[in-house]
Amino acid sequence: MSEAWEPLRIEPSASVVVVTGAGVSAESGIATFRDKGGIWEQYDLERVATPRGFAMDPDLVWRFYSERRAQVLGCEPNPGHRALVALERYLEPRGRFLLVTQNVDGLHQRAGSRRVLPIHGSLLRTRCSNDTCPSQPFDDEQSYMDGAPRCTTCGALLRPDVVWFGEYLDPDLERQARLAIADCDLFMAVGTSGLVYPVAGYVEIAAHYGVPRVLVNLEPPANLGAFTSFYQGKSGEVLPAILRSVAEAIGLG
Ligand code: OAD
Repeated sequence: MSEAWEPLRIEPSASVVVVTGAGVSAESGIATFRDKGGIWEQYDLERVATPRGFAMDPDLVWRFYSERRAQVLGCEPNPGHRALVALERYLEPRGRFLLVTQNVDGLHQRAGSRRVLPIHGSLLRTRCSNDTCPSQPFDDEQSYMDGAPRCTTCGALLRPDVVWFGEYLDPDLERQARLAIADCDLFMAVGTSGLVYPVAGYVEIAAHYGVPRVLVNLEPPANLGAFTSFYQGKSGEVLPAILRSVAEAIGLG
């Protein structure tokens, strides 16, 4: 099965940026957003993933994120996550590695990835919805099925520390991602539909600088034409296969 995919040749001194989306966690049992039966088929995006939805019904939003928290806490990283850990370890001594993930599930970090930019935030963190409140975001695995919690500092509603539609990404994370892409030797995207900007546009930055652009995805995404090679399949199978030379080089093969 995995023999169908030729291993990628990556120099140990290379600089590699990998962008991941929901597809990389699908084999851990976490539903994607836009596939058949995905999250946005079951829930109204406007009601649960926008500032307006939160203002209208914060309890509903917290029920949605509480369910997702519980689900993520019951899931484990899969071979796709682990193959990216191997790539980071392979590059660590001489090259550079950066993982930009749109996933809020924390599975890359749990697998052992260290240079991770969680550019859409984190499901297992909570913060105050009042931007002038001095309180800081905090780690939070709690479920709030009975209603939205309130900030102990200012009394405003607390919210999940994720980026919603209509909100800006953290400018510092955005800057780090863009600089790394402009200066890398290989750009990879894994498990993402290429529909949600700005991240869907990162491949264009790599294209602008003439960087090879590898895609690993189950289905052809919206921005397929921007990539220089496409490995169609499940990331939990394709990544260990195309990164097997890397894993062997660090004694994990
Ligand atoms: P999507 O659900 O839009 O796309 C998932 C992609 O993964 C699809 O192209 C699938 O073909 C592919 N896929 C599914 N299973 C796979 C597997 N086992 N291996 C490889 N690929 C697989 O998810 P994202 O592109 O991550 O944002 O969505 C981007 C953002 O839109 C999310 O971060 C979220 C969402 O709305 C917010 O909530 C702000």
